[in-house]
Amino acid sequence: MGSMPPSTPAKSLINLQLGWPSPRLFARDGLLKGAGDILTSDKETAAALIYGPHIGHPPLRTSLAEWLTTVYSPKTGPVSQDGIAITNGASGNLANVLQRFTDPLYTRKVFMVEPTYFLACPIFEDNGLQRKLRGVPENAEGLDIDFLRRALEATETAAVAAAKSSGRSDEPTVKNGATYPKIYKYVIYCVPTFANPSGKTFPMQTREKLVSLAREYDALVVSDDVYDFLHWPEDPKAPHDPNAAAPPRLVDVDRAMPGYRKWGNTLSNGSFSKLIGPGVRVGWADCAPALARELAEVGSSSSGGAPSHLTSTFVDKMLRSNYMQDFIRSTLVPTYRARYYVLMGAIKELLVPLGVTVEVNKPTDVTSEIGGGFFTYLRLPDDIPAAKTVAAFALKEYALRIAFGHMFTVTGDADSLARAEADGGFSRCVRLCWAWHEEGEIREGVERLAAAVRDVRDRVARGEDVGSQLSIGIR
Ligand SMILES: Cc1ncc(COP(=O)(O)O)c(C=O)c1O
Repeated sequence: MGSMPPSTPAKSLINLQLGWPSPRLFARDGLLKGAGDILTSDKETAAALIYGPHIGHPPLRTSLAEWLTTVYSPKTGPVSQDGIAITNGASGNLANVLQRFTDPLYTRKVFMVEPTYFLACPIFEDNGLQRKLRGVPENAEGLDIDFLRRALEATETAAVAAAKSSGRSDEPTVKNGATYPKIYKYVIYCVPTFANPSGKTFPMQTREKLVSLAREYDALVVSDDVYDFLHWPEDPKAPHDPNAAAPPRLVDVDRAMPGYRKWGNTLSNGSFSKLIGPGVRVGWADCAPALARELAEVGSSSSGGAPSHLTSTFVDKMLRSNYMQDFIRSTLVPTYRARYYVLMGAIKELLVPLGVTVEVNKPTDVTSEIGGGFFTYLRLPDDIPAAKTVAAFALKEYALRIAFGHMFTVTGDADSLARAEADGGFSRCVRLCWAWHEEGEIREGVERLAAAVRDVRDRVARGEDVGSQLSIGIR
């Protein structure tokens, strides 16, 4: 299909914003089999339908540890189940982590890699950390570590001086005592591998520097490692190596560096949402054993048992039977891989000639398979309005939905918004997802985006005001 004149009634919506797997990719058969294995056995049902152990279903902690060992081949040896707590997914677990390990007064700041996974912001706000969220820009090394260091230094100096001048001790005041044995001064939130939204992957040096900084400033790095399992070669003709390790997690980098501490400074936030389907609500935390044990004592688990206990018993069966591993290898990776090449090919053919650039980095020092995750990230040319306007225009005139830079600012951080809108800022960027639509629709989506870019450019050249009549929700 070529460009579609705006007067043509919009076809059905193409949604390249949605970061959800298409329903045909849900791991339904394996889930059904897992559920059957549990619910047809009196013994298994008895263990699955009681309140689960706070830290999670023991067999799943074991099967996860074994699986994660094969996925990451950590330098420090096999992943231990002692550091694993079962969660109800990355979002729910972030909330639990903040409830247990941050204090709304004592915890000084939350640093979020920017552009950020915007839906994490309300989770921090719900935990009393509003007005404390600060963006840390990405750069060619994945993350501007020097910026983060300066921000930590300045914040720490100011916090210590404020405590001194007020004469109060610099201790947690809201959450203290035996219930809260560890409160971090800082939280650093990131998606270090195949990031949402930017698709970027941190090279090794960035990972190590980040962990060192976290140790220096008593920060907990929460990394959403939810896309790590979906990777493939950049070259369409290259064979996929099912044994290629995923980039090392920050938690494994922390464990491998001398001086690993009792509580650790890293927590890997894992999830089956992108592998089974988001409704499954099962995930895991992998962190220092002391941290995992303490996380398990969050009030809602003390009362209700491990989150998602019943479903986690089904997921354990899926891992033990190798269904999950085979499904990733034989269904998810080939499907996403094929869609990725269609998307990248169409971008090269249709958008690059219009001045659009792909902003995703390729750090070959952490993985030989640099295609992966759900997203690619593009910068629009400077002679058209910001991505927010282009997105609103594409939605109205071309029935195409895309995610745009303004969505990825850090809530409440005026500097984050200013950086987005500065020259070269990420308000000119868009995120495209290949998880929801099939190959033909993805190609058509890029055609619609190219038509929208050309159309906007023509209108701007004619002196028309493209933006002021359009609006689009940021969240
Ligand atoms: C970076 C990131 N974290 C967390 C989530 C949500 O994970 P879950 O469904 O496990 O809560 C997503 C889903 O889009 C995501 O992209």
